[in-house]
Amino acid sequence: MSLKRFPNAEIVPTEILGEELKFPNGRTAQNRFLKAAMTERLSTYSPEDPKKHGLPTEHILNIYDKWGHGQFGMTLTAKCIGGSGGLCIFYFLCNCSRTNLEAIGNAIIFKEGDSSERRFLYTQWAQKMKQDGSLAIVQLSHAGRQTPIYVNPHPWSASDVQLKTSDNQYGKPIGLTLEQIRPVFKNTVVYLTGGFRTVGAMVDAIQRDTTQGIGLGRPVTAEPDLPKKILNGTVPSAVKDEFNQNEMGKTIMASCSQIEQMGRKSVEGAGGDVMDQISDFTDGNLVAKYDEAVVEFMREMKEAVTAGRTPKSIIVFN
Ligand SMILES: Cc1cc2nc3c(=O)[nH]c(=O)nc-3n(C[C@H](O)[C@H](O)[C@H](O)COP(=O)(O)O)c2cc1C
Repeated sequence: MSLKRFPNAEIVPTEILGEELKFPNGRTAQNRFLKAAMTERLSTYSPEDPKKHGLPTEHILNIYDKWGHGQFGMTLTAKCIGGSGGLCIFYFLCNCSRTNLEAIGNAIIFKEGDSSERRFLYTQWAQKMKQDGSLAIVQLSHAGRQTPIYVNPHPWSASDVQLKTSDNQYGKPIGLTLEQIRPVFKNTVVYLTGGFRTVGAMVDAIQRDTTQGIGLGRPVTAEPDLPKKILNGTVPSAVKDEFNQNEMGKTIMASCSQIEQMGRKSVEGAGGDVMDQISDFTDGNLVAKYDEAVVEFMREMKEAVTAGRTPKSIIVFN
């Protein structure tokens, strides 16, 4: 597959991107690249059966198998919702976080769901992330007022101010007090994520001391091994898709679809091809087809919510 890239990118030395980053806790990232947190929405959803609720699936393992071949310094999972048992920074929310999902299909860690199966799956997940030397970090999260109404009409949040949208997707939250929200971030390494598309810009941001690490989101759903290609000098920029970049919601949905495609096969199952089945959105015709899929997805979502049914979280495309 020959992908179109951001044009006219300057060819610059990339050594600085391959430098290690040392953390105060003694850990070292092998280079400056971070795989940003991106919601997968592919874990199990069984709110009535805690032991089977929010378990990582084969799909998740395959996705991180692909990124696990991408030579990241650090790999973040998507939002993983933490619950009781001291595992979550919002530990005081005991027993309620599994109903504060960002979407159907979030992975969840909570006391009543603890089991050897859950621990085994999370261990496998970590191994996939770490296989080529990356550090593995779970983004422990809590969706707050962005919990969809069909998951929880009254989620805990930083305040009781309701998020108003045209589709009325969010309920009225219950506000937390300041004492309930503890500051936990002190001494840390800075990563900047958002909009890095050329190697020149990444190198420049580090040389100017704007950031220490480079976070990559959408570019690594189009191309899971982009850091590896940058570090070995094969590419000067990320893939340039044909979406209107002002339609951020749509570009995020398209990335979600690419993540689902990544999860269909493991690297081995795909004959070693980390790009296996990932849609090439540098092709305008394919983008036009995706636009149609979005219209249909939104129609179905509205219909499901109106009828009190749980809507789909992602577009399974091609
Ligand atoms: C499909 C998708 C899902 C995302 N999910 C999360 C998430 O779970 N948690 C989070 O903090 N940010 C999430 N983000 C934001 C990304 O981490 C990142 O900040 C954003 O995409 C900008 O980086 P980029 O320009 O390299 O894509 C998501 C972005 C995308 C595209």
